[in-house]
Amino acid sequence: MARKMMSSLPGNVPELRVLFLLLLLLLPLRPISGGDGGGHDYHTALHLSILFFEGQRSGRLPPDQRLRWRHDSALHDGSTAGVDLTGGYYDAGDNVKFGFPMAFTTTMLSWSIIDFGRNMGPELKHAIRAVKWATDYLLKATVIPGVVFVQVGDALSDHNCWERPEDMDTLRTAYKIDTSHPGSDVAGETAAALAAASIVFRSRDPQYSRLLLNRAIRVFEFADRHRGAYSSSLYRAVCPFYCDVNGYQDELLWGAAWLHKASRRRIYREYIMRNEVVLHAGDTINEFGWDNKHAGINVLLSKEVLMGKADYFESFKQNADEFICSLLPGISHPQVQYSPGGLIFKAGGSNMQHVTSLSFLLLAYSNYLSHANKVVTCGGKSASPALLKQLAKRQVNYILGDNPLRMSYMVGYGARYPQRIHHRASSLPSVQAHPARIACKAGSRYFLSPNPNPNLLVGAVVGGPNVTDAFPDSRPFFQESEPTTYINAPLVGLLAFFSAHP
Ligand SMILES: *[C@@H]1O[C@H](CO)[C@@H](O)[C@H](O)[C@H]1NC(C)=O
Repeated sequence: MARKMMSSLPGNVPELRVLFLLLLLLLPLRPISGGDGGGHDYHTALHLSILFFEGQRSGRLPPDQRLRWRHDSALHDGSTAGVDLTGGYYDAGDNVKFGFPMAFTTTMLSWSIIDFGRNMGPELKHAIRAVKWATDYLLKATVIPGVVFVQVGDALSDHNCWERPEDMDTLRTAYKIDTSHPGSDVAGETAAALAAASIVFRSRDPQYSRLLLNRAIRVFEFADRHRGAYSSSLYRAVCPFYCDVNGYQDELLWGAAWLHKASRRRIYREYIMRNEVVLHAGDTINEFGWDNKHAGINVLLSKEVLMGKADYFESFKQNADEFICSLLPGISHPQVQYSPGGLIFKAGGSNMQHVTSLSFLLLAYSNYLSHANKVVTCGGKSASPALLKQLAKRQVNYILGDNPLRMSYMVGYGARYPQRIHHRASSLPSVQAHPARIACKAGSRYFLSPNPNPNLLVGAVVGGPNVTDAFPDSRPFFQESEPTTYINAPLVGLLAFFSAHP
């Protein structure tokens, strides 16, 4: 079940590049298949991508819960530690609440709304609710100063069972970091999430927004003052699932960057400038996800440089340019790998997390460039904002069905989509259909069954095809068939933009 991301610097594969360039030329803006008018139904996809988060909810479900086959679960989370840790999201197809990816999911959902909320129409209120379901939990997890609860549930115990969240009887251990067991990675990301969400709520609920921002400030201070990786003290709980592989330096800069944006306080700008070198801001590789934030920091801070408001962040813009160049087929080296069908591909499983997060950065950067009337220069060639948008759109269209298998990788979208996703709640009969408890090992026959899942987890985007564009659609292949919250969070922003600019 390891979802560790691997940094890979792929070799030179000129044939693939040529093929991809040809594909780009042959299919300029016209998707192969899909909804009306030759394009995709981005509105429907956006609607589903947000609905998915309701299927991942932990805790007591509200009366307006739309995904009706899910019920209350994990109502005693935190009780063993004397705190209320109910709520939040299960990260993927299991029933553990991992704080590190949950916080990253929250940051990316918030960024989706900050940049593309105006494109969401009636879906905006649902996207905001999806953020609040996470921030209500993160506020509980950070209620004690100097402590952050970073996980509920024992992953080994959980993964040993195939159980509905509603039936769970596995260990619900609450894991925490504190001043003598630091975790600047998870605390830095939690601060980023709270700060980003405070922007989402700024005009909509000023009181809640202030609460989020004040908490973000406190959690960041804790992250910075007590430095360390949470996997040092919590190794057995968090590794190999969400081990901090690339260090906590990026989360400190990332937290400061979001606090800078949310608070406009001078101290965060100074912190970033003072720590830029110490915290390795230049370590940009073509990767962005729950473990590695460098590319995101560079793109986020570049916006202000491009708006002419922050020359002092110029080096971040140079890093962002380099990062963007590394995603452009045939332009630079080292370069991200593409499958023959044109999908960004990185080894290590759950590839769609890379596809959606890298595409999000392409789109966000393209917008910042457009507003400044600028292009990216990559080794003597220039890439226009329109080209970046086209690349991001090509990735989104691949997810929605423009791919060699002609299938959508989003459950419930299109004529063909994954039927046997690696997801406990989706694959076991619902509580309505089967009120009696299904015990730990009694669930195995549903896991091993060749039948389609009985409950449609609409909007779930799975790990996706392998490097040859092949997809087994089989539950045991978790690297391909498991959905995660951090695959969907950046996709929400992408789909919002393309629904308004099809
Ligand atoms: C990709 O998946 C297909 C079908 O499951 C399999 O036959 C093939 O060996 C896989 N390729 C790689 C490189 O893993």
